[in-house]
Amino acid sequence: MAKIRAAITGVNAFLPEYRLTNEEISTMVDTTDEWIMQRIGIKERRILKEKGKATSDMGAEAVKGLLQKTGTSADEVDLLICATITPDMPFPATANIIAHKAGIHNAWSFDLNAACSGFIFALATAAQFIESGRYRKVIVSGSDKMSAITNYSDRTTCPLFGDAGTAVLLEPTIEEVGVFDYIHRVDGLGRHHLHMKAGGSLLPASKETVENKEHYVYQEGQTVFKYAVTGMADVAAEIMQRHNLASEDIAWLVPHQANMRIIEATARRMGLDKEKVMINIEKYGNTTAATIPLCLWDFEKQLKKGDNVILAAFGAGFTWGSVYLKWAYNS
Ligand code: UT7
Repeated sequence: MAKIRAAITGVNAFLPEYRLTNEEISTMVDTTDEWIMQRIGIKERRILKEKGKATSDMGAEAVKGLLQKTGTSADEVDLLICATITPDMPFPATANIIAHKAGIHNAWSFDLNAACSGFIFALATAAQFIESGRYRKVIVSGSDKMSAITNYSDRTTCPLFGDAGTAVLLEPTIEEVGVFDYIHRVDGLGRHHLHMKAGGSLLPASKETVENKEHYVYQEGQTVFKYAVTGMADVAAEIMQRHNLASEDIAWLVPHQANMRIIEATARRMGLDKEKVMINIEKYGNTTAATIPLCLWDFEKQLKKGDNVILAAFGAGFTWGSVYLKWAYNS
């Protein structure tokens, strides 16, 4: 019997309209466009400004557009996984709220928390349900409203992040396309270098935690940078080796968009020219679980059926990994 693989058969994204530029950030903290462009590579990021709007609103817009784009009825969806670290609320799961807002009623859903590796962890998870033969339509939504947990008086973190909602559809295929392999890793010790201090069971919200600004991203940038460069490049190189892929066999590297220098280091290690690397960090910044699907959506027209694509990410946890897939359609 032919092997069933999970193929991405559609991708969509929702971006808030508001553009937070480096010029505006320079009025909020002591920084410059030049520093941000040189050290990170971001020009602007989108921010969800509307009151009462949350991660689920961006995710639901992305999902609704995806259903329309792929001609899928909401009732056909079997499972929805939302990768996020900025849930609407600690519980219930944002995936449930997205499903409700998108009119998906015949499915189950859950959130997956792997920070910047959230999308690739969720993709590997979703693929299992398809490969088992049990499900035919699974949606993965990598969505984050990072502006909700960004301290706009901290110059070391506030230029980094942006907001976005995304959605991809996975369906079974017996063709030689779809998700071929993945290598995913975690190291819980890394939590010390990148986390949100308060609001969990360790340090519940209090007047003090608010005053101490402990409900925002805490990051030791240099340490995370060091681990990100080696972590992302290691797994990307390992998955190429495992499948005897030379750099000329790769059509696209789709890296998590945290820092241009990390992206360049990963591409160098894989022996890839910049033309083969999806990069949109300049426009959207680090949207955490949304960066990789946002790239696939941005570059969708350039992707060809059968293209060898490597996804790679590194994030809080620490979490990191890479996915090897063959693109499944021409658009
Ligand atoms: O996506 C999840 C995983 N996260 C990442 O992958 C992020 C990894 N880390 C990074 O991308 C970088 O470490 C940052 C972009 C966060 C920081 O860049 P860096 O080159 O590592 O800067 P640094 O922290 O070593 O700081 C260098 C200098 C410091 O000044 P002194 O101490 O040398 O005088 C900082 O205070 O740059 C200063 N600095 C800034 N200057 C102007 C830090 N932020 C800024 C800023 N504008 N926004």
